[in-house]
Amino acid sequence: MSTTERIVPHHIAIVMDGNGRWATKRFLPRVAGHKKGVDALRACVRHCGDIGVKVLTVFAFSSENWNRPAEEVSGLMELLAMALAREVPQLQSEGVRIHFVGDRSALSEKVRQGLVQAEARTAGNERLVLNVCFNYGGRWDIAQAAAKLAERGEPITEASLDRAMALAHVPDPDLLIRTGGELRISNFLLWQAAYSELYFTPRLWPEFDAAALDEAIADYGRRERRFGRTSEQVGTPSGTNRKAA
Ligand code: FPP
Repeated sequence: MSTTERIVPHHIAIVMDGNGRWATKRFLPRVAGHKKGVDALRACVRHCGDIGVKVLTVFAFSSENWNRPAEEVSGLMELLAMALAREVPQLQSEGVRIHFVGDRSALSEKVRQGLVQAEARTAGNERLVLNVCFNYGGRWDIAQAAAKLAERGEPITEASLDRAMALAHVPDPDLLIRTGGELRISNFLLWQAAYSELYFTPRLWPEFDAAALDEAIADYGRRERRFGRTSEQVGTPSGTNRKAA
């Protein structure tokens, strides 16, 4: 491997934090920050597709976000509906397959239909999988997986839980990015991030562009991923992070 070759993570997960602060700094309503956040997400999806990332998972609305002011919650719901209508043709042309991950039962019938349609329309795409976590929480996911197994009378093991989780269609994230300066996971991918490399940046999500994503990927490329083993066992020189076969 040449020293300039980039190690591109197969799966990147992102906590897109900082929209509210971005808007408040500009004396704008918080929803304006979320709108700008959709622009940043669009650019990020495009860049991931271009550089060969295969899966992108983003946290768009957490189980706990219902506690925000009603105006912001309804703004986020409207934004989702608008983004679905506007972005799906573009995702389609870029070969992006979209999945929505989370508890749909609390969403309106109109939003639920929009999710199903977007998934169906992009189902044949293979360039990039985009998982949008909406009304999602890591604890919800573990609980729903366990409930599913209990209902089927299946034993609960790591492997069976793994298969019942909402992200069973993709491998675990290699790199988990959080923008906005906070140093926590906030109930995102609690099960799947067991061995993800974590990257925190103070940059607010609306300002997280392709160059910022490249910086995060370069940092990831310098990590040594050991998955519980020693450096010697992994057998890679320090500074590389290829998973031992
Ligand atoms: C966290 O920033 C961000 C969210 C709760 C929403 C993230 C949503 C998007 C980026 C838009 C994409 C959405 C859809 C509907 C596809 P924050 O509001 O907590 O920011 P703060 O920490 O500065 O207050």
